[in-house]
Amino acid sequence: MSVLNLGFLASHGGSNMQAIIDGTLRGELDANLCALISNNSESQALVRAANVGMPAFHISEATHPGKVTEAIIDTFKMQGVDIIVLAGYMKFLDPRVIESFSGRVLNIHPALLPKFGGQGMYGMNVHKAVLANGETVSGPTVHLVDSQYDRGRILAQKQVSVEPNDTADTLAARVLAAEHFIYLDTLKRISAGEIKI
Ligand code: GRF
Repeated sequence: MSVLNLGFLASHGGSNMQAIIDGTLRGELDANLCALISNNSESQALVRAANVGMPAFHISEATHPGKVTEAIIDTFKMQGVDIIVLAGYMKFLDPRVIESFSGRVLNIHPALLPKFGGQGMYGMNVHKAVLANGETVSGPTVHLVDSQYDRGRILAQKQVSVEPNDTADTLAARVLAAEHFIYLDTLKRISAGEIKI
């Protein structure tokens, strides 16, 4: 069992980050909650971090013009981060961040990659595309991030059913509940050495 030094990047709600925080506070996951960086000063994610005393930073073009990438790397290094957890980060992640934490950047995508990934496939677009394609199953994918975003090694997936009456909203809610389980579970398995990164 190894302790994971986690740094989060989140833009909005941060409910996935919260699920990982909660698992850590319950003692299920052996992790240090090193830092959250958000590009959005109004994000609920910043509030969630403050609520548990996790160091939180607002880093954006407004705060660090032309130097966002350097600031992200420096901040995470200074806070002792080993693994970056992308939790709804809506900004392009510069390859220099991925290189600095090579093989240790995780993302969660709300569909079963490699289907429904790539350009424009984020948020409700994903669930609308799943419904439009007549899929009967969907569900989240936890994967490593390389320079091709949704193309990194898949670490875990969890299937959820697509119901006949589903709208993008109802499907998104069912997938999000599965995200909260699978992101925490994947980190537990990394810590236990069952998944190698
Ligand atoms: C999730 O649907 C996740 O799959 C995607 O962004 C959303 C983040 O939600 N990458 P939250 O901010 O964790 O609530």
